[in-house]
Amino acid sequence: MERRDFIRLTGMGTTAVFIGSSVPFFLSSCRKEDMMMNMGAGPVSVIEGDFSTMLPIPPAINGQATLTAQRTTHNIFKGKISKVLGYQSGSILGSSIVVNSGDNININFQNNLSETSNIHWHGLITPANMDGHPEDVAQPGGSLNYNFTVSQRAGMYWYHPHPHGHTAKQANLGLAGAFIVRDGEEQSLNLPSGEFEVPLVIQDKRIFPDYALDYSPNMGEIMTGYMGPYITVNGVYSPYKDVKTRNYRLRVLNGSNGRIYNLALSNGASFTVIGADGGLLVSPLTVTSLLLGPGERADIIIDFSSYSVGTELFLLNKTFSAGAAQGTQEFKIIKFNITQNETDTFSLPGTLSVINTIPESSATRTRIFDISNAEGMGGAGHEGMAMKGMHRINNKIYDKDRVDEIVQAGSTEIWVFDNSMGDEPHPMHIHALQFQVLDRTGGRNSLLSTESGWKDTVMLLPGEKVRVIMTFGQNKGKYVLHCHNLEHEDDGMMLQFEIV
Ligand code: C2O
Ligand code: CU
Ligand code: CU
Repeated sequence: MERRDFIRLTGMGTTAVFIGSSVPFFLSSCRKEDMMMNMGAGPVSVIEGDFSTMLPIPPAINGQATLTAQRTTHNIFKGKISKVLGYQSGSILGSSIVVNSGDNININFQNNLSETSNIHWHGLITPANMDGHPEDVAQPGGSLNYNFTVSQRAGMYWYHPHPHGHTAKQANLGLAGAFIVRDGEEQSLNLPSGEFEVPLVIQDKRIFPDYALDYSPNMGEIMTGYMGPYITVNGVYSPYKDVKTRNYRLRVLNGSNGRIYNLALSNGASFTVIGADGGLLVSPLTVTSLLLGPGERADIIIDFSSYSVGTELFLLNKTFSAGAAQGTQEFKIIKFNITQNETDTFSLPGTLSVINTIPESSATRTRIFDISNAEGMGGAGHEGMAMKGMHRINNKIYDKDRVDEIVQAGSTEIWVFDNSMGDEPHPMHIHALQFQVLDRTGGRNSLLSTESGWKDTVMLLPGEKVRVIMTFGQNKGKYVLHCHNLEHEDDGMMLQFEIV
């Protein structure tokens, strides 16, 4: 057991056959549903715990640091030690990097894994050679230096590995962290801060009998995304948080590989969404639930002031409809214990921020990205091709030697993600920029509260088409766009674009 776990964690076990190599696997069926059935990929049921572990808050560090990817251990389950990957010894999630807009980042990355790795700054606008492009990797034992200036607005971004073919495994086994940017506009709002601003990194995990994290997707799980029965928040399973009768600001990141959460409170109460991937919305929006796909963030205010001390409230996943692999089960994520009275004078301003809408008329080009994979699957079957590449964009699989789209620095374009014919959810992510979501047609036929803000990842459920608009910056070079279901990404659902 000891040795097998070690091998799994270093990526040299049997799982590597499916993620790291191109060993052909011949399909017996062209229909995805049949294939998923054959491969045993139904929804993975969540196992709720007793919510008796206190929620930890990852320590905050500034932009001058060393992050060392390594095998280590973490106390995910009460009284149990789990073998994991981490950016420091003894911890599954990296520290939260907290900087002011305008700060310089100088981070040394040391790769102590037995395979290539790197760091991508998800949502941050960086020079191409600092972005953690899938081919810009450190060899085992090697290092990289990330040096750039953060010149964008306040928001919750995040960092995680991005080496092509290993992203899903490394992120799932523990390599990720929050990256918080602050600025004057945000400061002037006097939002709940200090102990009242709480990062919630939500992830689902699977384990071996000895509690070591287990990343070993079968082929069905490469189709659906790898999901686990244990929901963790900030690296611990089934946590609670004591709160006072006041407003809290929750910075929520869905850091899961493939699981989507439909966030809601257990008593059905409403909560207020104040920000999205790329910072504050123009004005607060009140909702009773919020769908958050892999890679997406939400900035939420919860007002606990009307509850009496002794009340217990849960943040839940409510059921939702998003294809066959998930959404059928309601489960609890974290418990809030209202433990202390406090008089709260906070009131949320009606206007939070200024967002200049990019006019559609300023777009000089529209590009269509077909992510339905309807053709891709058929093609794969007819050609008797390898299992790899079940997920495609415009029927193409990621190729490091091919630039798929060339765009002009400073120009504005509309990109259309088209999942009209698709039967799987795809959270689509674009590097190098923040975009605005113009509209969604088909499926839900509308935009969510968070989608009125700046975004870098947008969720497409089966049958949906989404249009986004963006202005490319002046950082020239090669970047990627991809599905942030990390199994889909590693499977090749990623293209390159070059800003020239
Ligand atoms: Cu968070 Cu290219 O990824
Ligand atoms: Cu990214
Ligand atoms: Cu996908």
